[in-house]
Amino acid sequence: MEIVIRPDATTAGKLGAEAIVALLQRKPEAVLGLATGSSPLAIYDELAARHDAGEVSFAQARGFTLDEYVGLPAEHPETYHNVIRRDFVNRVDFAPDAVHGPDGLADDIPAFCASYEAAIAAAGGVDLQILGIGTDGHIGFNEPGSSLASRTRIKTLTKQTRVDNARFFGGDIDQVPTHCITQGLGTIMSARHIVLVASGTAKAEAVHHLAEGSVSALWPATILQHHPHVTVLLDEAAASRLQLGSYYRETYAAKPAWQGL
Ligand code: F6R
Repeated sequence: MEIVIRPDATTAGKLGAEAIVALLQRKPEAVLGLATGSSPLAIYDELAARHDAGEVSFAQARGFTLDEYVGLPAEHPETYHNVIRRDFVNRVDFAPDAVHGPDGLADDIPAFCASYEAAIAAAGGVDLQILGIGTDGHIGFNEPGSSLASRTRIKTLTKQTRVDNARFFGGDIDQVPTHCITQGLGTIMSARHIVLVASGTAKAEAVHHLAEGSVSALWPATILQHHPHVTVLLDEAAASRLQLGSYYRETYAAKPAWQGL
């Protein structure tokens, strides 16, 4: 796991964007794993700017989002289907229908989840997965207690996650759905490269466990310690509880510029 600490979220996001641009240059048909929420916005802003500058195209790329609320009407602005289009997909040149996500209105949720796993596999698997992390250590919506080998399925959101996400629902926790469909930890672990981005002191405890804690379902993101290619992009605040912060800084400072993430 490579830990990169940058002064702020924008600078960290630029590094994440650079990894995606480099991937698309060597593999234009790459499959991207897309997260929603605040954390990846700096990456998406940078990618949209680089697309506008003619530096990157997503015309042949495909995408799969991590998760979706169960039961929100399709036209609700906070479905992750709508959020990812607003924040990223509609700002670049993905082909129509190139980006897929879980169906939070599926009648048969287990059958839908199996078909979502099959669709990711049929696309050749995810080349680069973007992740945020919850204050409770979730990735995707794999809340504490999730099976470390889980695949796409329905989950119950924790109170903490619903409190955290109430800001997208006018501050009213009762408007935040109670359930979601999420890729499992096993699904996420199948991606070839994982780029997790976190900023702010609220994420510092979860980031400490992610990088330095014991692998445990209590902090689901710790499963990433078993992945061979994980890049963690942090601002100073999110890195503030790392025990080995100086070591990570020294290591990154000494890294040759030609070596990407
Ligand atoms: C979103 C997702 C979640 C978020 C996490 C952090 O698709 O899978 O794991 O990444 O809840 O959310 P933000 O970035 O809004 O702090």
